[in-house]
Amino acid sequence: MGNQILLFLSLLALFFLQSNTSASKAAGFEASSEFSYDPCSPLGPQNWGTLNYPSWAKCTASPEGMQSPISIKPSNIYYNTHLSRLDTYYTHAPALLLNYEGHEIRVSWTQSPGHLLLHDKFFHLRQCHWHAPSEHELFGKRYPLELHMVHTTDSTSEIAVIGVLFEYGGTPDPFLDKLCEALNELKVVNSVDVGSIHPPRVGDEEGYFRYVGSLTTPPCSEPVIWTVIKKVRSVKEDQVNRLRDLLHDMDNARPTQPINGRHVNFSHPHPHGEQKEEGHASS
Ligand SMILES: *[C@@H]1O[C@H](CO)[C@@H](O)[C@H](O)[C@H]1NC(C)=O
Ligand SMILES: [Zn+2]
Repeated sequence: MGNQILLFLSLLALFFLQSNTSASKAAGFEASSEFSYDPCSPLGPQNWGTLNYPSWAKCTASPEGMQSPISIKPSNIYYNTHLSRLDTYYTHAPALLLNYEGHEIRVSWTQSPGHLLLHDKFFHLRQCHWHAPSEHELFGKRYPLELHMVHTTDSTSEIAVIGVLFEYGGTPDPFLDKLCEALNELKVVNSVDVGSIHPPRVGDEEGYFRYVGSLTTPPCSEPVIWTVIKKVRSVKEDQVNRLRDLLHDMDNARPTQPINGRHVNFSHPHPHGEQKEEGHASS
């Protein structure tokens, strides 16, 4: 009981923290000048580490660095029989759609939509957002879109992100489809209440890649436990353009970072299991 009250209070705090941030940024996107994705800009990824020293120091490449994203390729993949199914338990919960400081489009839940169970710990889903093009490279290919689902433990001290890659195809992504109208509204306001929404469905039927990395935006915090889903999903080109338009067609992907001897573990696929879910989804 005590734990539930604590969780509620911390979520409440998170909510007010976020609404204050978005309110202060709403006026003029002034924070978007803090860093840039443009490699030709002095605020570009190559300089992130020195822009806000020492807070962003981790962003500078170093031989001990564990930065993300990375290129996932046969030379750094290790098969690992100990990796279990991806244990996600998601349900509907209220959320806001935000243009987050002009850097990314984000769905931010104001109450918990569930969690990822990892290493016997609960990582609560906080927000998800998109990068176009993809940040991770898979077998030498960069995809048009990557979804990041950001989870933290109760104390928010530990971070786990699930990454999903998308290729252009004939099938629209159902999660972006649900946000279609809200994305239109986001052209004129900085935050849209999207009501109660189920997180994107992630399946691990073709397995996933697991490695230890970082946040891909300043302060580039380490460590972050990364799970990159092997199955590439389909998204319609106009869905990606809708996201890109809101960022003035700017790419928002950090270049890949040195692997520095890290292993990327590949889970063996679990083709016959059903993904466990809490609650029921009409959508
Ligand atoms: C990858 O697998 C090895 C061997 O089982 C393990 O020691 C290591 O912790 C794993 N790394 C991750 C990030 O899961
Ligand atoms: Zn991201």
